[in-house]
Amino acid sequence: MALMELRRVSKIYHEHSDREVRALDDVSLSIEAGEFVAIVGSSGSGKSTLMNCLGCLDTPTRGQYFLDGTDVARMRGRALTHIRSRTIGFIFQGFNLLPDLTALENVALPLQYRGVPPAERLQKAREALISVGLAHRLNHRPHQLSGGQQQRVAIARVLAADPAVLLADEPTGNLDSASGAEVMALLHRLHRAGRTVVLITHDPAIAASAPRVIRLQDGHIVQNYDTNLSV
Ligand SMILES: Nc1ncnc2c1ncn2[C@@H]1O[C@H](COP(=O)(O)OP(=O)(O)OP(=O)(O)O)[C@@H](O)[C@H]1O
Ligand SMILES: [Mg+2]
Repeated sequence: MALMELRRVSKIYHEHSDREVRALDDVSLSIEAGEFVAIVGSSGSGKSTLMNCLGCLDTPTRGQYFLDGTDVARMRGRALTHIRSRTIGFIFQGFNLLPDLTALENVALPLQYRGVPPAERLQKAREALISVGLAHRLNHRPHQLSGGQQQRVAIARVLAADPAVLLADEPTGNLDSASGAEVMALLHRLHRAGRTVVLITHDPAIAASAPRVIRLQDGHIVQNYDTNLSV
């Protein structure tokens, strides 16, 4: 079975009692372990809703979602949090770093929540930062780093937890083109090293660099194709 498999998933929001928004409308989709998939589509087409469902940040109104073989569509609370935190790492446009913590402390913090002892979490955080090319920035705070470096700290924070899947919602949306290229090169490298990467983008060049592209429109998948890149 695929690593992530949506079967006829709908996500319906009720704006007023009489009006419903079908953010996802009967979507079926399989993503295998080790894939690199770009999700594209105009604003409001359902991209973030799809990513939030894939990442168990949100639950479908209807349908089934098998994540690593488990139907998580009806799961809630701690069970859902547990499967999410051991499987999925999120990367957002806004980095979401804590401004008063150094790069090292930002990366180590989620490990603290997981109960990893202090020496071990600093070691893991250091290794993760070195792996994203930031060995020389361990003790810098976010405002002392470029946007691209901040995003790499955010990626290191995800990597320290060693998730199988990286879900990235416009990870280069706040970056200039050089920093964006740097972050994309890192995501491609992580993919080659075996991670599954699902990325939302508005940038046609970034979509074209993905081996597989899924296009959403009004909550439907209207295109789902391989770009024939071997990567
Ligand atoms: N919490 C919510 N409550 C009500 N409607 C919502 C909610 N979240 C999303 N929607 C609606 O669902 C639809 C899909 O939204 P979504 O955020 O998935 O779009 P998107 O493709 O990510 O757009 P963008 O490119 O602007 O980020 C939109 O019509 C949006 O207004
Ligand atoms: Mg969005």
